[in-house]
Amino acid sequence: MLTAEEYLGQVGVGVTTPRFFRATDGNLYVVKLQNNRLGPMVLASEFLAAKMGEYMGLCFPASDVIAIGEELLERRPELAAAGIIPGRHFASQYLDNVEYLGKDNLDKAVNMADMAGVMLFDHMFHNADRSSNKKNLLLRQEGEAFKIYAIDNSHLFRSGRWTINSLEKLRRSKKVYYPRAFGLMLKDRLFAHDFRPFLEKVREISDEAIDGIVGGIPTEWLPDGEQRQALPGFIRTRRDMAEEIWEHLCRHIPKAHGGRRREYSRIIDLTRTSDEKSRPQERRRHLSLGSAGRKLPDKDAD
Ligand SMILES: Nc1ncnc2c1ncn2[C@@H]1O[C@H](COP(=O)(O)OP(=O)(O)OP(=O)(O)O)[C@@H](O)[C@H]1O
Ligand SMILES: [Mg+2]
Repeated sequence: MLTAEEYLGQVGVGVTTPRFFRATDGNLYVVKLQNNRLGPMVLASEFLAAKMGEYMGLCFPASDVIAIGEELLERRPELAAAGIIPGRHFASQYLDNVEYLGKDNLDKAVNMADMAGVMLFDHMFHNADRSSNKKNLLLRQEGEAFKIYAIDNSHLFRSGRWTINSLEKLRRSKKVYYPRAFGLMLKDRLFAHDFRPFLEKVREISDEAIDGIVGGIPTEWLPDGEQRQALPGFIRTRRDMAEEIWEHLCRHIPKAHGGRRREYSRIIDLTRTSDEKSRPQERRRHLSLGSAGRKLPDKDAD
């Protein structure tokens, strides 16, 4: 566990209003606090993701639990005034020299294949926030190279505040999160085989390892016993579904990249009426005629 030594101010971005701290190891961290406006559960999600990320070898920044002590809070009264309590919080090591990843800088990245792992993780854990929020993928210049890092795992299970019921609804879901960078990557940057090394690592995560990860979540971040109990079973199910999830993602990867998307397989004629749309024969005829229209990705239902 890290120990906070110095407070350096608010980050100024993010719904959880994270703050900068320097820890006794000399490094700078972006810290999410227990009393953030979404509640301490987001720290539990961050912790879970960090540990799974280590098992899977994902391009997340280094992170750890950080202790903020009474002494620092006394030295910086604005922290106590903001409701920050002494105890354990979540720290992500600050990456300098970064820009947000978007369509204009995506192709600079040297580690595009790493995104297969991130995408697999995000689909196993329903982290829709990585694709819908354009500030959760960073591109960092390291020497001559630009490397993608994935940050912000506050919203696993589609929410900063999931419940047993909401978790259960997601257990078997293979919904594909397609917005922004994810869609661009699936469309023509990732290869089906990029997922292989990550699938192997997922397969190797034992039941005991999963129990250990969940057991390591600080109690004050996830105090509800039923929720703690529900997590290992959910994670096992998702681990065992990883290959299926990948196959689903492959529907969006072109055949030329080892996926199952035919280049012109999804031609939607936007002029068709809803009545025509409900008649599959008509639809097939439209497709075989190759009618002009927009090529859209397969919008998967759950
Ligand atoms: N490890 C890091 N290195 C550099 N910058 C970071 C790091 N972690 C977070 N940031 C910056 O802080 C911002 C907020 O962090 P983060 O996205 O984790 O918080 P959040 O409150 O969950 O945000 P959101 O509103 O996206 O849900 C990021 O968009 C990024 O600019
Ligand atoms: Mg964010």
